Amino acid sequence: MTTATASAPAKSAVIHAASGRIFNYSAGPGVLPDEVIRQAQEELWNCRGSGIGIMEHSHRAKTYDAILAEAIADCRKIGSIPSDYHVLFMTGGATSQNFLVPANILGQTETADYLTTGYWAERSFEHAQMYGNIHEAWDGRPHNHTFIPSDAEIKWSGKAVYAHICSNNTIYGTQWRNSDGSVRLPKVPNNAALVCDMCSDIFSRPFNVRDFGIVYAGAQKNVGIAGVSLVIVRDELLQREPRELPLMLQYRVMAKDESRHNTPPVFPIYMSGLVFKWILKQGGLAALHKTNVEKAKLVYDVLDSSKFYQGHARPDSRSLMNITFRTPSEELDAKFIVEAFQHGMDQLKGHRVTGGMRASLYNAMPRAGAEALASFMREFERRNG
Ligand SMILES: Cc1ncc(COP(=O)(O)O)c(C=O)c1O
Repeated sequence: MTTATASAPAKSAVIHAASGRIFNYSAGPGVLPDEVIRQAQEELWNCRGSGIGIMEHSHRAKTYDAILAEAIADCRKIGSIPSDYHVLFMTGGATSQNFLVPANILGQTETADYLTTGYWAERSFEHAQMYGNIHEAWDGRPHNHTFIPSDAEIKWSGKAVYAHICSNNTIYGTQWRNSDGSVRLPKVPNNAALVCDMCSDIFSRPFNVRDFGIVYAGAQKNVGIAGVSLVIVRDELLQREPRELPLMLQYRVMAKDESRHNTPPVFPIYMSGLVFKWILKQGGLAALHKTNVEKAKLVYDVLDSSKFYQGHARPDSRSLMNITFRTPSEELDAKFIVEAFQHGMDQLKGHRVTGGMRASLYNAMPRAGAEALASFMREFERRNG
């Protein structure tokens, strides 16, 4: 490691000599695999030997036809996505899915159940209100969103067309999980479709697509960069036509036109394609999950052996992706963030609604990044505890 010079963007941070980069714990846009960035660098200039850079390619050209087809095929392979599910690339961020989901599948007099387990789940709940009867089956606000409810704590309406959850709460650092980190889902009654905002943990662990009617995720955490959202939707739900919608807002149209109703975000989709190939190369979701469990354990072990740090999440609901914690005071939190940066670790400041610290350990965060953080945390506690 060498110290950054004045010309480097991170003036006082420790830059890792081999890569010229520092550990990035950002909650999103988040860290990408090194080899993905390297390949994109090359193909910005000349994509797949076409003599045209990826950002300059027509979305109707053969090069892009292949890129899109491979991205969809690789995505299907990673998630074992059956043929009666569509894989769509859409714009407008995951935030637009907050209204696209109810607009596409909920009639004005029908009911949907929402489980508000965090900040983004609250936003989904609010956005859905204008499209039908929205029943809040769980409200985590009085508990400061420290945990995920058990089945006994959820109050279903009993008449929902669908139930909406957020599998990983990026800001509070909680996740729908079993003790081994595998996916836990609520028992939704009456065969209501389960709709899941999977923004911050998609493709970080195995999941069964058949458990869901719709899965959506902005790409910028585990599956690419900002500008595109992945939407996986069961075909049967596209048959629902609860209201007139502009063509651009219809899942049906996106599915029919294979995500090319208009000019799609070619470069973000290309980036997702590269990330999908990287995921397959790592051994797929089971292999990534194993590493993610190990990485998160390194940091949670520090919390568990400390009287200095306090984690936000209840241990049974701890996220493997976003670890939220604080020191005994806001002054020490601020000192932690400054000193961590000087040790080559950036973007550790917690979200404004929670304060404290947040370390995001997405798929592309190397194990060395989790080790460096855990070791810095112990050392900081020794000096300040
Ligand atoms: C769980 C979750 N849902 C939704 C969003 C909003 O995503 P976007 O900014 O792509 O609209 C985020 C962003 O961080 C998120 O973490």
